[in-house]
Amino acid sequence: MAEMTRKAFVCGHPIAHSRSPKIHGHWLAYYGLDGCYEAIDVAPADFADFAASVRAGRYVGGNITIPNKEIASQAVDRLDAAAKEIGAVNTLWVQDGLLQGSNTDAYGFAANLDDHAPDWSAVPGAAVVLGAGGAARAVLFALKHRGFSDIRIVNRTPARAQALAAEFGPAFSAHDFGAANALLDDAALLVNTTSLGMHGETDIAVDLGRLPVGALVADIVYVPLETPLLAAARQRGLKTVDGLGMLLHQAVPGFEIWFGVRPEVTPELRGLIVADILAKAA
Ligand code: ATR
Repeated sequence: MAEMTRKAFVCGHPIAHSRSPKIHGHWLAYYGLDGCYEAIDVAPADFADFAASVRAGRYVGGNITIPNKEIASQAVDRLDAAAKEIGAVNTLWVQDGLLQGSNTDAYGFAANLDDHAPDWSAVPGAAVVLGAGGAARAVLFALKHRGFSDIRIVNRTPARAQALAAEFGPAFSAHDFGAANALLDDAALLVNTTSLGMHGETDIAVDLGRLPVGALVADIVYVPLETPLLAAARQRGLKTVDGLGMLLHQAVPGFEIWFGVRPEVTPELRGLIVADILAKAA
C-alpha cells in the first residue's frame, strides 16, 4: 500500500504573515519529498480541539506560532526539556498516539550564531539580553546551555526581568535600561529580543560605544533585516548577526521529525526569504 502524503502545518492567529510555508515548501521541493505544509488560522479558544484533531492523525505534526505557543505547552502530552524550561511549544509531532512538544527557538538562535559567528560561545563571557518576553526565554535557555555564566537581562518593566532571573538561576541578573550602559563594558555579546527596531524605532537606549572591540551584537528581529541596532553596531565596526537565520534554523528539527530528512539552511533558502521580505516592504 502506498504511504499517505505526510501533512504538516503552522498554526497561529493571524497566520497569513507566516514565512514557514515558504521555508518548508522549499525543502519539500528540494528534497523531492511527498509531503505538504500548510498555514492554518487557529484562535487560542480553538486550540484544544485543533490539538485533539492532530493527535487523532490529521497531521504528522507542525509548528505553533503567536499567540498559541504557551497554550500548546499545556495541550500536548509530553514536553522536552527545552519546551518545559522555555514554557512554550513551537514544534509538535505525534508519536505512539501522543502529542510531543518541543521548542526549537533556542536551538535556532544558537545555530544561527554558530553559522555566522562560529566562535561566539567558545569562551562564554558576559552577555547582555534586552527584553524579558517569550523570545527572551528562548535566548536565555540557549545562553545557559552554551555555558554563559553571567547573563544580564535588561527590560523596560523591571519586574519581568527579575522574575526571569529568579527562574533561570544564579547566572542571571535583572536590570533596567538606566543601568544598561555600564553592563556593556565587559560584555562579549549583546542580544536584542524586544520588538524595538521592527517599526523603524532608532533609539534602543544603549551606548554601543561601551562594548569591547570584539563584541558580537545579535538581533532576533528580522524585518527589517538590518535593524537600527545592527546598523549602529556595524558602523562601529562590531560583529553583527541578524535574526533571519534563527527563523531558518528553528525550522530544521521539525522538518526532520515530520519528513525524515534533516534539511540544510543554505544561501539559496535565505535568498528566497530575503526576497519575500523585500517584496513585502516595497
Ligand atoms: P515576545 O514573546 O515577542 O518576546 P512579549 O512577551 O510581548 O513578546 O515581549 C516583548 C518584549 O519587548 C518585552 O521585553 C517588552 O518590554 P516590557 O516587558 O517592558 O513590556 C519589550 N518592548 C516592547 N516594546 C518596547 C518599547 N517600546 N521599549 C522597550 N521595550 C519594549
